[in-house]
Order: sequence, then structure tokens, then C-alpha cells
Amino acid sequence: MCGIVGYVGPAAPSQRPLEVIVEGLRRLEYRGYDSAGVAVTTPEGMASAKKAGKLANLLAELERRDLPAGTAAIGHTRWATHGGPTDVNAHPHLAGGGRLALIHNGIIENFAQLKAELGETGVEFLSETDTEVVAHLLARYHDETQNLTEAMRLTVGRLEGAFTLLATHADEPDTVVGARRNSPLVIGLGDGENFLGSDVSAFISSTREAMEMGQDQIVTITADQVRVIDTDGNPVEARRYTVDWDAEAAVKGGFATFMDKEIHDQPQAVADTLLGRAGTDGRLQLDEMRIRESVLRTVDKIVVIACGTAAYAGHVAKYAIEHWCRIPVEVELAHEFRYRDPVVSEKTLVVAVSQSGETMDTIMAVRHAREQGAKVLAIVNTHGSTIARESDAVLYTHAGPEVAVASTKAFLAQITACYLLGLYLAQLRGNKFADEIAEDLAQLRAMPEKIQRVVDNEEQVRAVARSMKDEPTVLFLGRHVGFPVALEGALKLKELAYIHAEGFAAGELKHGPIALIEEGQPVFVIVPSPRGRDALHSKVISNIQEIRARGAHTMVIAEDGDEAVVPYADEIFRIPQTPTLLAPLVSVVPLQIFAAALATAKGLDVDQPRNLAKSVTVE
Ligand code: F6R
Repeated sequence: MCGIVGYVGPAAPSQRPLEVIVEGLRRLEYRGYDSAGVAVTTPEGMASAKKAGKLANLLAELERRDLPAGTAAIGHTRWATHGGPTDVNAHPHLAGGGRLALIHNGIIENFAQLKAELGETGVEFLSETDTEVVAHLLARYHDETQNLTEAMRLTVGRLEGAFTLLATHADEPDTVVGARRNSPLVIGLGDGENFLGSDVSAFISSTREAMEMGQDQIVTITADQVRVIDTDGNPVEARRYTVDWDAEAAVKGGFATFMDKEIHDQPQAVADTLLGRAGTDGRLQLDEMRIRESVLRTVDKIVVIACGTAAYAGHVAKYAIEHWCRIPVEVELAHEFRYRDPVVSEKTLVVAVSQSGETMDTIMAVRHAREQGAKVLAIVNTHGSTIARESDAVLYTHAGPEVAVASTKAFLAQITACYLLGLYLAQLRGNKFADEIAEDLAQLRAMPEKIQRVVDNEEQVRAVARSMKDEPTVLFLGRHVGFPVALEGALKLKELAYIHAEGFAAGELKHGPIALIEEGQPVFVIVPSPRGRDALHSKVISNIQEIRARGAHTMVIAEDGDEAVVPYADEIFRIPQTPTLLAPLVSVVPLQIFAAALATAKGLDVDQPRNLAKSVTVE
């Protein structure tokens, strides 16, 4: 949700702390862009600046007023929870006579009680935020202990909810202290300087050496030391790792937007996710599958839990895994799974799909599943994230950093990882479709090149999107694996272009939604391969005829060589010939390009759509 960055450098005050924080905020802005702020500690005191709106507003403010040189600094980019997106509610929040600054990601559930308690001692609050309450509590404990780490430990003991906190105090100008519970925080290790961030992109331009922080831990960084303790004050050994991508991967690289770049990254994201796993000998190797084979052989149900786009990857997985493995697969939105009474047992494999690995709804669902005795496999893009750490095994997607708020390359990588899982389970359980599985694995290996061909055809899609910028509503139809693709196409358009968009199962049309069709209504139809099974193709052709007869403007995504669609399509976007189960990897791409191009034509910010944040770390 919010983005957090902290830095401590050499003792001589310099502009480096502020520069590092601003650079970190640029890279973290995708996590929230309702406001941004910084605080720099100097031996003389605390200097801070904060502004509502995008980071650009804060940068303009920093141009107007020079902040003094310092040794430590913290910075925040906000996705508002308590209190609207105003200057006053922006972080950092100051306390202790302006000598302490605090930033926060998450929600403090008992903030009202704490606020009342502090109010009784005469504390006056300027903002409507829960964060300011924590700042005053921390200042009170700092007055008592004269030690920021100990004050943070005592403060954390009083808090309920989810949080990452970073604080700095003018009395300890060479220190930043952080704490985390149910919200992300990673440590960056530099040479004579150290960093803290919501994710590694906060400091990736300075270092790729990082350390994971566990639940309920407190970290203190100085220029040359990192100390992690638990909430009882005991030292903790944090795990060190090297980030496997560099700063270049997280820049636009000549594209107008991150989303454009990430759409173009998709062939590579899929290839990297397959790398070392899908062998040319037709065998699959999942070295990281830490769940015992004997357990996987007896799994009698799979439940995929995820949210948003990641859940649509789960829907695609259902078709593929059920077909290949003959194991029933349920797909459930993580927040729904968590708050009902799901039937799971030791024989259930729960698959948690998440780009960030920090989606709170999915984290809570993972915990719930494990409490019921289920094994949890995470399909996650972010190394060391909470879901990765709390699951029994992790199958990482290797999509690289996804910066645009709307997911694209992570979606394709998630679908790819789900296919790998399905084929692996089928291989392990000795399925009767062995030849078909070997063939599908070979076809999967060919997908990056096919995705590239669809991306290369982007100009046709863009031109249509530009011509449709004033459309008030667009519908999406698909059957079988085309159905989740339709849902994803609609979601992309809603979130980027702010227009009404809905996806339907094409077979459901006659049961109600066909009433929406009137003259000129644009409808995307995802057409399955004519070489596929069960007359699926002819059924969808009938559906196109039905809507065309009622005036729909039909935009058809169909395979190369599928001539049956020609008489009924106002526009045809071609995709390479692909087995039905794998087709989402190509059929969704024109829909991503369409949504981004239409939003751009409307003059909207494609990378940072309104009201959204990249990683939803509150329930
Ligand atoms: C839509 C989108 C979201 C995410 C959802 C889950 O474009 O990006 O719907 O897919 O918030 O996020 P992760 O995958 O990080 O758990």
C-alpha cells in the first residue's frame, strides 16, 4: 500500500540522505500516490516536508525550500486509509517537540483507545491519522528510555493491527529504527550506508544486497551496523540474499509508461518463469517444490486463493489442472475464503497466487488454510515476501519488478507457473494423458515467441483503442479459458480507463446479459481454437452471430487461419495457433494493449490509476 524508505549514511551531514530518499520514493510511488513526505535528521533537529498528491508536488516543494544536509532520512508515499489525502495527513508525522519523525504503512486497529489515552495526558493531534497517534506514543516512550530502539519495542507492544513503522529522532541523528507486523520491510546493505524499504526497489539503485525481516521484528540501522531484535528484545539472525535483478529492470527503458514496458517484457517473463523447469526432454523439474511427493500424490483437492488479476490466473489454472491431473480445483477470492468456513483438510493443496506476496487478504487466507492443516504452495513474484515466507513451498514467477499498478507481465508469469504446477502434478501422479502432457509442455516452451508476435502487432490494437476513447461501456465474452481472459480484459479497462466494462461467460449471454446489447455496443469476443475440443469454437461463433444480429460492434480475438469468424467480426485481432488450454497467454495480450491505449487516449495516467495501489496491504 504505502511506500516506505529509510537511510543512514556517513557521520558528516550531506545531501545524500535526501537524494537516496527521493530516488527511493520515485521507485516506490506505485505503492500509493495520495501524498508524499520526507524527514531528514541533523544534529540540530528534524527537517521535514510533505505534500498531498503525487510525488511531483513534494519535489516542487523541495525545490522551493532547501532542506538542510543530514545523516539519516526517511520518506513515505501514501495510499490513504485513516484521513483523507491532505498535506496534514501526509507522513512523516512529528512528535516529541518536532524532534521525532515517524512514517507508517498499514492500519493501527486500536488507535482510538491510544489516542484517548494520549489525549488525557494533554497531547494535541493535528491530523486524522492513526500514524500520528503512534508518533506521540513513540515520543512518550523515547522520553522515558532515551533510546529509539527500546521506545519502538515498547510502542510495538501496544499496537494492534498491521504496520511497518520507520522512525528517526534528532537526539540519535545517525539512526533509523523500523518495525514490522503483517506489512513488508526489507533491509538494504550498503558500503558505509544502510537502507530500509517496503521492497528492494527502494534502494536497488544503491545496492542489491538485502536482508529479510520476519514478523514482529525491530531493526536499527546506522551507517555501518544493522541490528534486528524480536519484540522481547532478543537478537535475531536475519537472512541475507542478493536481489537477482538490477536498477535497469525497474526503469521505463524508452517506453512511455511502465505498463507499456511491462507488456513488452511479457515474452521474457514467461521464458524466465519456464527456465530450468520445463525440460527439453519433456520432463518437469521443480527443485523448489518443498512439499513431499508422497503428500502431493495424495492431494484430493486444490484450492487457489488470490485477488483481482491473480485470481483470474487461478481460474485459468482450474481448467488446465483439472484436465491434466483430474484433481478438483476450486478458485476463491482470498477475502471470501478467509471469512467463511471452507472445507479444507491435510489432503488439500492450497495455492496462493500473488505478485507482491504482500496482499493482506491473501496472507490472511494462507494463515487460515494452514491452521486447517492444508499445505500451502505460494506462486509469488517478490522474493522473501510474507506469503513466500509463510507458505510450505514457493514457486517463484520470474517476471522481474512490476511497477505499473495494473498487473500484466506478472499475470502471464502466474499463469505459466500454474501450468508448470499442473504438468508437474500430472507427471508425478502418472496421468493417463502422458503424451498430451509432453506435447503441452513442448507447446508451453514455444509460448514466449508467440506472445512476442502478439505484442509486435500492437499498433492495430492501439488504433482501434484510440478510435473508441469516448465509449461509455465495453463488454467482453469468452468460454472455457476465454472466460477468465474476458474478466481480466474488463478489469484492465475499468481500472485504467475508468469506464464501465464487464466480462461474461459467452454461454451465459442468453441468460440475461444479452439485454445490454444495442446498436453499436462494443463487445470483445475471445474465440477458442477451431482445432480444439468439444465444439467450443462453433458455440462461440454462434454467440458472435447472436450479438451481431442485435447491433453489437464485434471485436474478435481469433487464431491465425480461423476464417469462420470473418463474416461476423468488425475487427479481428489475430493470435498465433495455440492449444486451447495455453491460449490465455496470447489472447489476453491485445486486451492489455487495448486498455492501456484507450486510457492513454483519454489522457489518463496509465501507471498510476486513481484510488489504486500496487500492493494492497490492508484487508
Ligand atoms: C489488477 C491488479 C490487482 C492485483 C491484486 C492482487 O491489475 O493488479 O487486481 O492482481 O491486487 O495483487 P497481488 O498479485 O500482489 O496479490
